[in-house]
Amino acid sequence: MNGEIRKFIFKDLQTVDGYIDPPDALVFLALLQAQNTHQLSGGIAEIGVFYGRSYFLFRKVCGGSEKILAIDLFDIDQEADEAVTQYSRFIENGERLHLPVDQDLVIRGDSTQLRPEDITGKIGQTRFFSIDGGHMLHHVVSDSALALGTLAPHGIIAFDDTFNPAWPEVTVGVTDVLRQRQDELATFCMTKYKTYVCRREFHDFYCRVINEAPDLYAFGHLETDFLGSKAIRLHNPMARRMIYEMMVRSGMRSLSERVYR
Ligand SMILES: C[S@@+](CC[C@H](N)C(=O)[O-])C[C@H]1O[C@@H](n2cnc3c(N)ncnc32)[C@H](O)[C@@H]1O
Repeated sequence: MNGEIRKFIFKDLQTVDGYIDPPDALVFLALLQAQNTHQLSGGIAEIGVFYGRSYFLFRKVCGGSEKILAIDLFDIDQEADEAVTQYSRFIENGERLHLPVDQDLVIRGDSTQLRPEDITGKIGQTRFFSIDGGHMLHHVVSDSALALGTLAPHGIIAFDDTFNPAWPEVTVGVTDVLRQRQDELATFCMTKYKTYVCRREFHDFYCRVINEAPDLYAFGHLETDFLGSKAIRLHNPMARRMIYEMMVRSGMRSLSERVYR
């Protein structure tokens, strides 16, 4: 197991306001490391950075030399007279975690206005693309097309908030794309919050990665049929989630990692 990175996921990363929780952080870790091992190279991109919780995970797992592109409107907290903004908090989080943001690889703007070349021109084809920006149908349709236009043959797209009843248009958008491109795309993993997709040729490879990653042994691995693919649904039992929450709330964050072994 990855002792140091797991400590980072369960402790340091939780000091950044944001939404990726430890189970999906462990999935990101397993996938990125498998790509590294098999020389499946390429850039990494995220739409919807917020304060950088997923971005700093990418930085920690992949090191400083990888090209990681951060795309966000960065307009939360943006009052005319406020010195602290979403963007300044993102940059400060990087300094505090000793993972400084490469500001040449930040796009501050509306992802729906970007073309694939705006991304590939900066980081080349992508091996991992996280979509967690605007949550309405037109955002998801546009961001999916953008990501697919940059994706390396072995690339992965991680869609956030799929099947979250708070964001029904994300569900519609993701399922529309997967149905329209059923011959090309396959879902290989699903968690409570995210759906992981790749090109069909790499489906078996990424299923094996998910099944064999020691960092994911703690989860139940269940098979789910989804739009022509067998996806591995990682099940995180309620009892474990409760123990984890109790530990975090009673100040035992460092030890909470053990619950997920
Ligand atoms: C749920 S947060 C992302 C959480 C983040 N991935 C994490 O790990 O903590 C959504 C982000 O999407 C950004 N966003 C919303 N609409 C966008 C758009 N059209 N283009 C770019 N970013 C957008 C928001 O500014 C916000 O920071």
